[in-house]
Amino acid sequence: MAKPPLSMKPTGWFQVAWSDELGVGEVRALRYFGEDLVAWRSASGRVTVMNAYCEHLGAHLGYGGEVVGEVIQCPFHGWQWNAEGRNVCIPYQDRPNRGRRIRTYPVVERNESIYIWHDLLGREPFFDVPDVFASFDDGRTAADYWPQQRLFRAGLELHPQYVLENGVDFAHFKYVHRTPITPVFTRHDFTAPWSYVDFTITFDGDENQRIEDVDSGVNAINGGLGVAVTRSWGMVDNRTISAITPVDEATCDVRFMVYIGRTPGRDDERAAAKAEQFGQEVIRQFTQDIHIWSHQRYSDPPALATAEYEGFTTLRRWALQFYPDGLGGSAADLAAASSREGTGE
Ligand code: FES
Ligand SMILES: [Fe+2]
Repeated sequence: MAKPPLSMKPTGWFQVAWSDELGVGEVRALRYFGEDLVAWRSASGRVTVMNAYCEHLGAHLGYGGEVVGEVIQCPFHGWQWNAEGRNVCIPYQDRPNRGRRIRTYPVVERNESIYIWHDLLGREPFFDVPDVFASFDDGRTAADYWPQQRLFRAGLELHPQYVLENGVDFAHFKYVHRTPITPVFTRHDFTAPWSYVDFTITFDGDENQRIEDVDSGVNAINGGLGVAVTRSWGMVDNRTISAITPVDEATCDVRFMVYIGRTPGRDDERAAAKAEQFGQEVIRQFTQDIHIWSHQRYSDPPALATAEYEGFTTLRRWALQFYPDGLGGSAADLAAASSREGTGE
């Protein structure tokens, strides 16, 4: 498959692991954005994600690197690097190499996930990672929900932007998710790096009901292109996080998480089993989307129905801010970027 025309090096927050995959003192090799990375958790619990290769003679810190207190020690000659990527110890010399530094990434741990900030231009984060609980500002916390349920699919040929385009794509619900009637979007706010999408939707009843009579829906917050959180209302209480992280120029890792709300006083095994079952159903619906995305080819310019025009155009314009290399959402951006490359500008 040809690689997607959209840049696979967008700016933003991207999930690289789950928190429980990296215990205290553990080291993990990662590969994202075409880079070899290493993640490690210090004795105090702080997570660092940095380029994998030791600045000394290039050993990969993810293969044999060891956490020593608050630093990582290279397996090759024992040089130690701190959470800022600075060399703090050369064991056979009285002082470290203060000039050398391994590139580190800003890290946030939230909702049991580890996110890194990726920006080709090396800018500091200019927005935050949405929190599946706190960002909805309704006082609900993880304690009100059953344990997180997860889906992980590695190396799929898709682009993070495909996933967000779901948020303006009213027509797919009936066909991909078999909703009885077409949902209606009630909010599209694409004015800032966090965008907001609300829609009225039902999975119950038949095709003869009117959307005006439906009493359930979803609120979504997209934190850039990499992370989206949702909450439901008027149906089984669920929250989801979708996190799509580019691995290389053609593929992404897809992570999807679901929390099902607890009913006070109902904490028995049957309630747990029901929550598990409903969570799996939400995950199944997401895999229906994945099936489309992983075989999709980005259409640009797309043939849009009149009712689709505004949503898709607005979303694609919003997405442009996350493509610092100019490979954004339109044919014109692509042409401009490739002519820049051609002239060596
Ligand atoms: S290569 Fe890392 S200490 Fe020598
Ligand atoms: Fe969908």
